[in-house]
Amino acid sequence: MTWSGWRPVAGEERGVESDVPTGVETGYEQIVTRLIPGYASLARLGVALLAASPLASAQGASVLVAGCGSGAELLEARAQRPDWHLTGLDPSAAMLELARGKLAGQAGIDWQQTSVENLEAQARFDGALAVLVLQALPDDGSKLAFLTALARSLRPGGQVVLVDLMQPERSPIQQQLREARLGFQRASGLEPTAEEDRGAQRTTAATPAGMDALVAELTTGLHPIGLSRLTALVAAAGFGDPAPVYQALDVEGFLLQRRD
Ligand SMILES: C[S@@+](CC[C@H](N)C(=O)[O-])C[C@H]1O[C@@H](n2cnc3c(N)ncnc32)[C@H](O)[C@@H]1O
Repeated sequence: MTWSGWRPVAGEERGVESDVPTGVETGYEQIVTRLIPGYASLARLGVALLAASPLASAQGASVLVAGCGSGAELLEARAQRPDWHLTGLDPSAAMLELARGKLAGQAGIDWQQTSVENLEAQARFDGALAVLVLQALPDDGSKLAFLTALARSLRPGGQVVLVDLMQPERSPIQQQLREARLGFQRASGLEPTAEEDRGAQRTTAATPAGMDALVAELTTGLHPIGLSRLTALVAAAGFGDPAPVYQALDVEGFLLQRRD
């Protein structure tokens, strides 16, 4: 089969041609790409989805990257939509520092070292991305508080791209998906520990030195939920039903839209 209708942008075979720096791969990225199936495509998919949304498609739209971590979504947003007004938010000073380094020289990003719950923003954003953030919050009111604050920060009709490790429900292949993710991680150079049931991993020789603590942070204490629970939570928070847009094993993406 021959693909037609596409050509490399201005002779660039790889990636988007832009003046956004792309060469910085932090230890975080070296780990997260091995832990999360499909991670390498997530930022690009998420930004492309949001860029096609009713509000964020507008020129100069305001977009929140909630839990921006080391800056993957911000970098991609700068490349795809240089006109967007971006807010990069993360409560972790260390992660924000990585993101600032990655986007060094990029003016016009509003950096916020805080949680979404503590962000004072009412109907300010046209869209948001929250990638691999909700999964770490316990379902004891914390997930609802996060989603409610996210909805509140959006203009009515604004959309969020939400991506998380999920707990597949009543699926005959639930166990297979989980084992496949562990297999993906093992094949990527990470091995389960005795705490495998909690999702903990240990590094192997293929993992960058000094990254064991980071792996533990990214794999322990996760709180995946199923689609029915997510649907109930997002409804209570002020969103319509989650629309499935992405799945890589048990990592799933949804589009949420704030109700009017
Ligand atoms: C696994 S990282 C994902 C980072 C980035 N989105 C990515 O895909 O690489 C999760 C990030 O969410 C941040 N975070 C945790 N709780 C948060 C909250 N309540 N509001 C906003 N960010 C939060 C963490 O500090 C961390 O940087």
